[in-house]
Amino acid sequence: MATRSPSVVISDDEPGYDLDLFCIPNHYAEDLEKVFIPHGLIMDRTERLARDVMKEMGGHHIVALCVLKGGYKFFADLLDYIKALNRNSDRSIPMTVDFIRLKSYCNDQSTGDIKVIGGDDLSTLTGKTIIPSHGANCCISEPKSLMGKCPSDVLAGLEEMLRKNHMNVLIVEDIIDTGKTMQTLLSLVKQHNPKMVKVASLLVKRTPRSVGYRPDFVGFEIPDKFVVGYALDYNEYFRDLNHVCVISETGKAKYKA
Ligand code: HPA
Ligand code: MG
Repeated sequence: MATRSPSVVISDDEPGYDLDLFCIPNHYAEDLEKVFIPHGLIMDRTERLARDVMKEMGGHHIVALCVLKGGYKFFADLLDYIKALNRNSDRSIPMTVDFIRLKSYCNDQSTGDIKVIGGDDLSTLTGKTIIPSHGANCCISEPKSLMGKCPSDVLAGLEEMLRKNHMNVLIVEDIIDTGKTMQTLLSLVKQHNPKMVKVASLLVKRTPRSVGYRPDFVGFEIPDKFVVGYALDYNEYFRDLNHVCVISETGKAKYKA
């Protein structure tokens, strides 16, 4: 049986750190409750995850698939550490990158729909022209989405690459909350028969809303709080914050959609 992926576990009664102990942009001074995971700790944990990824997937070309926008910081830092391993070891593997954008949140609530936005960019990256079937943006509902046309279009460029090269896919995500979004994306990617597909998520939330999905590589397991920073947002704000922080009620009200 597969063992449960290890992670740094942050307990439910973790108080976090006073904002005054760290550097926080002035424009967010009133909008945060606590620093929850300092940037330095994120980097140290990510360095180790890079080693774990290479150990499990480093035998074959990796396509690293970044789930935008929240995953971009973790993606960039994880890949930097993997690149460092590649250039400092006798054994190295080529890596290509791809990007997908999904959206399922409004304010701090999941809408239940996964919006696939900007997916036609993926086809541009792989040199294949795809005309989106539902205009520039499209919206799919779970679990019907697996049969919908739109997500297949979105992943068509990736499919071509996977078929040609029989690659290992590493999906890189910021946070697993209910797990529904990732289950849906995983089913879509697997339809294209990659050699291997694994998921790395910086955070996993302990929540009663979870469907029980656990990624292969996990940075931190966190309590059921809404967190922002290090590219995680609340209605597009707080991505410009280095640390993972807990948002305050003032912050939620100020940036409400
Ligand atoms: N923060 C930001 N985005 C999220 C969260 C969160 O806590 N949970 C799901 N998406
Ligand atoms: Mg995300």
